[in-house]
Amino acid sequence: MASGDKRPAGPDLSKGVPATGIPEGSMMAGHIGDDEVLLARQSGRLFALSAHCTHYHGPLVDGLLVGATVRCPWHHAHFSLETGEAIAAPALSPLTCWHVEERDGKVFVKGKRTQAQPKTTGSANEHIAIVGGGAAGFAAAEMLRRRGFAGRISMISNDSAGPVDRPNLSKDYLAGSAPEDWVPLRGDDWYAENKIDLKLKTEVTSLDTRSKELTLGDGSKMKFDKLLLATGAEPVKLDIPGADQPHVHTLRSLADCRAIIEQAKTAKHAVVIGASFIGLETAAALRARDIDVHVVAPEKRPLERVFGPQLGEFIRALHEEHGVRFHLEDTVTAFDGKRAVLKNGDPLNADLAVIGVGVRPRIDLAERAGLAVDKGVSVNEHMETSVSGIYAAGDIARWPDPISGEKIRVEHWVVAERQGQVAALNMMGLRTPFRFAPFFWSQHYDVPINYVGHAEKWDSIEVEGDVMKRDCVVRYKRGSRVLAVASIYRDKESLEAGVAMEREAAKT
Ligand SMILES: Cc1cc2nc3c(=O)[nH]c(=O)nc-3n(C[C@H](O)[C@H](O)[C@H](O)COP(=O)(O)OP(=O)(O)OC[C@H]3O[C@@H](n4cnc5c(N)ncnc54)[C@H](O)[C@@H]3O)c2cc1C
Ligand code: FES
Repeated sequence: MASGDKRPAGPDLSKGVPATGIPEGSMMAGHIGDDEVLLARQSGRLFALSAHCTHYHGPLVDGLLVGATVRCPWHHAHFSLETGEAIAAPALSPLTCWHVEERDGKVFVKGKRTQAQPKTTGSANEHIAIVGGGAAGFAAAEMLRRRGFAGRISMISNDSAGPVDRPNLSKDYLAGSAPEDWVPLRGDDWYAENKIDLKLKTEVTSLDTRSKELTLGDGSKMKFDKLLLATGAEPVKLDIPGADQPHVHTLRSLADCRAIIEQAKTAKHAVVIGASFIGLETAAALRARDIDVHVVAPEKRPLERVFGPQLGEFIRALHEEHGVRFHLEDTVTAFDGKRAVLKNGDPLNADLAVIGVGVRPRIDLAERAGLAVDKGVSVNEHMETSVSGIYAAGDIARWPDPISGEKIRVEHWVVAERQGQVAALNMMGLRTPFRFAPFFWSQHYDVPINYVGHAEKWDSIEVEGDVMKRDCVVRYKRGSRVLAVASIYRDKESLEAGVAMEREAAKT
């Protein structure tokens, strides 16, 4: 059936549904004409909003109502029930809201509601500079404008591309199944329309915290009133012979991804070094392009350090099912032309190689400026560094995590975006602590794995369900305390675990 013939699911909400069918704390999906609409009753009130998440179209009816929000089952975005605002990333655009009415034992959804524009705040003379055009930097700029910041915003990035949906670069886009327009977080016009001065291909070479001044690559200076450092991380390079050849890649930027795609058009044999998230997602994407893929990594099981042995075994079996060949407890010692040489001297054909052995936070700028660093840029719960008015967010930030009670630094897309958003609110003077449970997802073929919390070490792993059948919740525990939860196709439990962690932390 052509997509134009597709009828939206559920009842026609304009004709009304029985009020008893939508009890307190419940949701149902229906439609108004061609629009799919979510109906929810929470805290005695009825709400009607778009039925799908504005991130990747997750079905909100399978998510969770928490306080005044609905949370997306796929990657945990939070939307306000009242206004539809995407108050916590990864969704950034709002849901449409509809009028609802309850009468004669029925609930009717009426026309669309128009949303009030935010009042402008702050002085037009104030200047916020953002170093970095990635997840955290973009989310901060977007939040500043969304909440009506009246001043100037400059976003400086040494990348040649504007902010992109980086997770896609090792998934659908690399596999060739995502169109080009999925990649930019916003079109080029958006920056001009929102008066964001986006300076691409521009390195920030130094920061003077006293004079509140940045030095740019061409030697010019930029004064700021407040600053967000969001310089992210860079892939670790391998210092082995032959790794500097053009067919040996790392993957961070859109340009890196395009270079791999270009080579994948003719490559027959690929070697991926590192069974990291990026390494394995790349392996899956290259298999989708019908390239023979070998993964070489020192560990016994892929991703075991993060997920433990059960999920590690599953990930290995899943990739093997798709034709990936592993060389575990092994390393590549050199590239001899288009051959990768293993520890024992055996060669592997490699007309394309991708190194995915981890990343290093780009803290150099902060360190040279004299900001406090501790294996990351140290920030408080408001994402403010050791210097007042200078904030840091994303892969570089080490923050006091109220969930684990430890200072942690992670490399997760959703965390980076939310930290950028929280930094933005604090730069506008809205004292907002970062108290979210860390969350990430990873996708291997058609299997998404969600992970909430943070467990560098645990003393037991509890598996509920069946990992091999792709239906499980895996809990990482210290004593009786659940530090983190990984799940496959148990989205509601994943959401509930995050909420439980946040509620527990709120008590402290
Ligand atoms: C291919 C890939 C796939 C991923 N998939 C997932 C996933 O599925 N799930 C998940 O949770 N996470 C994923 N991640 C991790 C996630 O993308 C990062 O955690 C996130 O992008 C971090 O955001 P950030 O803003 O801190 O840094 P970045 O997004 O890296 O942005 C940093 C920006 O700073 C710029 N910059 C750095 N130094 C300077 C300087 N001195 N001057 C000017 N500009 C500078 C860079 O060019 C860049 O624009 C993935 C990462 C990659 C590379
Ligand atoms: S689809 Fe909703 S958060 Fe990703």
